[in-house]
Amino acid sequence: MRLSKQDLSNLFKTKLMKAGLTEEHAAIVADVLVFADAKGIHSHGAVRVEYYAERIAKNGINRNPDFRLEKTGPCTAIYHGDNGAGHVAAKYAMDEAIKIAKENGIAVVGVREMSHSGAISYFTEEAAKQDLIGISMCQSDPMVVPFGGAEPYYGTNPLAFAAPGTDGRIISFDMATTVQAWGKVLHARSKNTAIPDTWAVDGNGEPTTDPSKVRALLPIAGPKGYGLAMMIDVLSGILLGLPFGNKVSSMYHDLSEGRNLGQLHIVINPSAFTSIELFKENIGQTMDDLNAIKPAKGFDKVYYPGQNYEKIEKDYAENGIEIVDDIYEYLVSDVVHNNAYDHQGTFVE
Ligand code: NAI
Repeated sequence: MRLSKQDLSNLFKTKLMKAGLTEEHAAIVADVLVFADAKGIHSHGAVRVEYYAERIAKNGINRNPDFRLEKTGPCTAIYHGDNGAGHVAAKYAMDEAIKIAKENGIAVVGVREMSHSGAISYFTEEAAKQDLIGISMCQSDPMVVPFGGAEPYYGTNPLAFAAPGTDGRIISFDMATTVQAWGKVLHARSKNTAIPDTWAVDGNGEPTTDPSKVRALLPIAGPKGYGLAMMIDVLSGILLGLPFGNKVSSMYHDLSEGRNLGQLHIVINPSAFTSIELFKENIGQTMDDLNAIKPAKGFDKVYYPGQNYEKIEKDYAENGIEIVDDIYEYLVSDVVHNNAYDHQGTFVE
C-alpha cells in the first residue's frame, strides 16, 4: 500500500490518540515516524505504531508527563522526560538545546527518563535546519555482545550527527552501533533465509547464519563499535544517573512500566568558531567533493551521509510511501493493539 505523508501521519496520529496520547504528543510522534518511513527507514516507522499503542494503553508511556527543563549551567541542562513519549521529550529537549546554543555557542542537554525516540536524526536535523551542528545519542535495550563476550551487555546505541550545507542541504549521519538492526534479523526469520555470519551470535557467542538462533547482535567493527556503544552508554546513561549497560530496560519486558532511558543532545553553533557562511560553504564543498569522487566498481555514485535516501524519498514523494499491507490493515482498523508485545523476550519473535 502506498500512502501520502499526510495520510500516513493522520493514521499514526489517530491510532496513538486512540491509545491515549494527547493530540499534541501524537502529532509529534507521528511526525518522527513519518520522517523515517519517508526515507525508507522502515525499521523506525509504521512498524512501531502497534508497539507504542500497546505501551501507551498500558501506561508504560506516560500520557500526561510533567516535562521539565532543569538548567544546570549556562550551556547545560537536564530535560526530565517523566517517561512520556520519547520522541516528544527528545524533540522538546532539542528545541531547548537549540535556544541555548544560539545564545551561548554550545548546548549539552541530557534527556532523562524517557521512552524510545525512534530515528534520532530527526532531532539532529532540527538543529541543522537552524544553521547549527546537531549531535545526538541514546541508550537502547541490551542486545549486543561486548567484543569477545558471549552475552549481551549494551544496546544498539545509535549516534547521529547533522550539519548545514549550502542550498538547504544537510549532511546527516545516523547509525546504530551494530552491524545490522534487529529488524533485519526478524525479516530474515520471517522469510526463512540465512543471515551473513557477521551480523549476530548464538547463545554461545558463536557467529550464526540461522536467524532463529540469534541471541545477540555484533557491534560494528569489533572492539571499535563496542567502544562507541560504551561511550554512548556513558554519555546518555551514566552521566544522567540512569540505569546503564545490561541494567537498561528491555523494549518488551513490561509494557506497564516506564523505560527510564536516556539521550544526550549536543548542539554546536558554528558562529562561535567561524563564520556561518564559510562553514556552510565548506560543508557544501565537502558534499560536492564527495559526489565528484570516482565511484568504485558496482557503485553508481559516492553519496554523502543522508543523501543515500534521496532516490527513495523522491519515489515516495511522487508515488506515496510504501507500507506493508498487514500494517496498513492494522492502522485502518479499530483495534488499538493486539496484546502482542508485552512480556516478550528480546529475541523471541
Ligand atoms: P543505516 O545502516 O541504514 O545507515 C547508517 C548511516 O549510513 C546513515 O547515516 C546513512 O545515511 C548512511 N549511509 C547508508 N548507505 C549509504 C551510502 N550508500 N552512502 C552514504 N551514506 C550511506 O542505519 P542503521 O544503523 O540501520 O540505523 C537506522 C535507524 O535506526 C537510525 O535512524 C537510528 O537512529 C535508528 N535507531 C534508533 C534506536 C533507538 O533506540 N532510538 C536504536 C538503534 C537504531
